[in-house]
Amino acid sequence: MYVKKIRNGTVIDHIEPGHALDVLHILGINGKLGEVVSAVMNVESKRYGRKDIVKIDDRELNPQEVDKIALIAPKATINIVREYEVTSKKRVQLPQTIRGIIRCNNPSCVVNAGEPVASEFKVEVFEPLRIRCHYCGRIMGKDDVLKQF
Ligand code: CTP
Ligand code: ZN
Repeated sequence: MYVKKIRNGTVIDHIEPGHALDVLHILGINGKLGEVVSAVMNVESKRYGRKDIVKIDDRELNPQEVDKIALIAPKATINIVREYEVTSKKRVQLPQTIRGIIRCNNPSCVVNAGEPVASEFKVEVFEPLRIRCHYCGRIMGKDDVLKQF
């Protein structure tokens, strides 16, 4: 046990080693709002060798936030903690088609032309992430996704 148990909030467990700060970044958490957050990096895991863990006090994630985490930490488990008990444990699951969460980084793509078109990507490879824009065919990876948040 590297960090004490939390009373209420979310524990994001089984994050790929080295990606805890990316997860916080993607959730827009930087500590400036006084959020109580702990991050554990590169610790031994029973399942995958090494892992990172992020604990966020007094916050439960919405489904869109969970999908964002799936983009960069496809093996993560989202544990909701209430009164010290894990009340829900879900492995993130990236859908085959991703709508609206990320932008296409091709400036001449139709979704960037000011039209009311929601972005849409097909996941070609889950790990390492490779997604293809449904409209222009642009291929994007994890780094491209991280740059947007
Ligand atoms: N946890 C916490 N505070 C709590 C309860 C749990 O910080 N009040 C953390 C644990 O330290 C662990 C994660 O939430 O990192 C999941 O807890 P639990 O399901 O009890 O652990 P495991 O059985 O080891 O989880 P898994 O099977 O998903 O590896
Ligand atoms: Zn595109």
